[in-house]
Amino acid sequence: MIRPQAQGALRQARDGPLVKRRSRTRAVEGRAPAIDIEKVSKTYELGQIKVRALREVSMQITRGDFVAIMGSSGSGKSTLMNILGCLDLPTGGRYLIDGTDVRDMDEDDLSDLRNRKIGFVFQSFNLVARTSALANVELPLAYAGVERRARRERARQALASVGMAKRVDHQPSELSGGQQQRVAVARALVTNPTMILADEPTGNLDSRSTEDVLRIFAELNAERRTVVLITHEPDVAEQAKRVIHLSDGRITEDVRNVGVHEGPPALRHQKRGHNSASGRSAQ
Ligand SMILES: Nc1ncnc2c1ncn2[C@@H]1O[C@H](COP(=O)(O)OP(=O)(O)OP(=O)(O)O)[C@@H](O)[C@H]1O
Ligand SMILES: [Mg+2]
Repeated sequence: MIRPQAQGALRQARDGPLVKRRSRTRAVEGRAPAIDIEKVSKTYELGQIKVRALREVSMQITRGDFVAIMGSSGSGKSTLMNILGCLDLPTGGRYLIDGTDVRDMDEDDLSDLRNRKIGFVFQSFNLVARTSALANVELPLAYAGVERRARRERARQALASVGMAKRVDHQPSELSGGQQQRVAVARALVTNPTMILADEPTGNLDSRSTEDVLRIFAELNAERRTVVLITHEPDVAEQAKRVIHLSDGRITEDVRNVGVHEGPPALRHQKRGHNSASGRSAQ
């Protein structure tokens, strides 16, 4: 199990809303989907040229779901992910996160959401070079104003939970790709987010590291965290409970393989005696 923090804090993260709400949506608090987008469009304008990256995409994601988003290159996956993570705004449509319209959030709410409630993982790890794994994982806590000693301890726990306890002092260049991605996952989970958004997190990994990272996501999901993962690989998508296909900025397929409240496939099909990534120390 991933245990970056005390149980109490985890429970709070599971049950609390992503942001303070103050609008009409109060009535749906707790029951609102984690993600609710309605006719979301994104058009990039490059001089005279308009690129319609998303075309009126609507979908809901229930808290605790594990969703894979697939589609060919240029189909709009990263654009959608950036909007879901409030890293970018749609040019049309509506986005409710935990029942609150992102347009009703002020900058403080939005940065709170990005820094503490959503964990991001990217294909290229995005670790800070020449900086230890520990300092990398501490970074989001520093932004959140957590005191130095507490953040060091939490970062150590997060690294231990992804099997990196023995590599805390290593810089990114002194780690393998799979290890760097595990550090990046530790950085994403150290703030105890309710949602993990991952854009091709296994795209640069070998099959063993892919399995490790997927197992960590499965464990995070088993703790009722919502996981949304972009992938090109069908066997990675198989580890999700639901698979959404995008094509040319539209959803063309939306298939549920496993119920939201059932265990994620990676844990359901776990072979007896197989060590979990989180229990394993760095090799
Ligand atoms: N900042 C930008 N400015 C202009 N056009 C953009 C921008 N970002 C993306 N696009 C265009 O929007 C479309 C969708 O891009 P997006 O990055 O979402 O695709 P993707 O599905 O993530 O592809 P890949 O699998 O290659 O990562 C593409 O046609 C792309 O060229
Ligand atoms: Mg992309």
